Amino acid sequence: MKRVSELFVGKAKSVYSTEDPDKLILEFRNDTSAFDGRKTDSLDRKGLVNNKFNAYIMQKLEAAGIPTHFEHLLSDNESVVKNLDMIPVECVVRNISAGSICRRLGVEEAQDLNPPTFEFFLKNDELHDPMINEYHIRSFGWATDQEIAKMKELTFKVNDVLKQLFLDGGMLLVDYKLEFGRYHGQIILGDEFSPDGCRLWDKDTREKLDKDRFRQGLGGVVEAYEEVARRVGLKF
Ligand code: TMP
Ligand code: ASP
Repeated sequence: MKRVSELFVGKAKSVYSTEDPDKLILEFRNDTSAFDGRKTDSLDRKGLVNNKFNAYIMQKLEAAGIPTHFEHLLSDNESVVKNLDMIPVECVVRNISAGSICRRLGVEEAQDLNPPTFEFFLKNDELHDPMINEYHIRSFGWATDQEIAKMKELTFKVNDVLKQLFLDGGMLLVDYKLEFGRYHGQIILGDEFSPDGCRLWDKDTREKLDKDRFRQGLGGVVEAYEEVARRVGLKF
């Protein structure tokens, strides 16, 4: 499969069309960004690590019955995926309090959330991804009731699968963000799952092994991502 034309350049990935209208090529670049694009850098090997890690996780999710857009790895930093009609909302589940929920609600970090919380955000960097609710999604026609229900169901199913997978590697899945799209009438998981879009802490030391290392200038960003990959059984 070959790139035909560049469709979209995101902050960390680029999307290309292919000869097959149902398939796209996702390129995982070394670019990294945080705070809605206000902090950026290029980190050696990040594209490769996230591409391989995402492939590994998407295959685990698929095996657990969660439909994903992932088709196959194409190269070190490219994957072939299904061409989805993306829904412009982000689905966030939190098992432990961290990040924006602490700022918004004035709650302390590192509290176990039982049951886990679920939040929708509008995918819009200029507006800093504002939190929205199901009424906004329905009223503005971003998704239907059934699609909302499906996104929630699948996002929680991902939690069951990945909480255990990371725990087996001695890590806590603190929170994560997923994006979904439509493909021939079905809602399926799109975008990526990598340490760029989740928080992972070492179970015992609570050391941060995710993009908070970049956000907070802690260093060792890609090294931490590789450590996460190694702990879930992935070899490069
Ligand atoms: P938050 O604490 O900034 O709301 O983010 C919660 C989790 O979702 C965290 O793991 C980062 C991820 N996330 C993204 O990757 N991109 C986003 O645009 C948002 C809102 C969250
Ligand atoms: N809001 C997320 C972050 O701070 C993603 C982004 O900035 O685009 O990492």
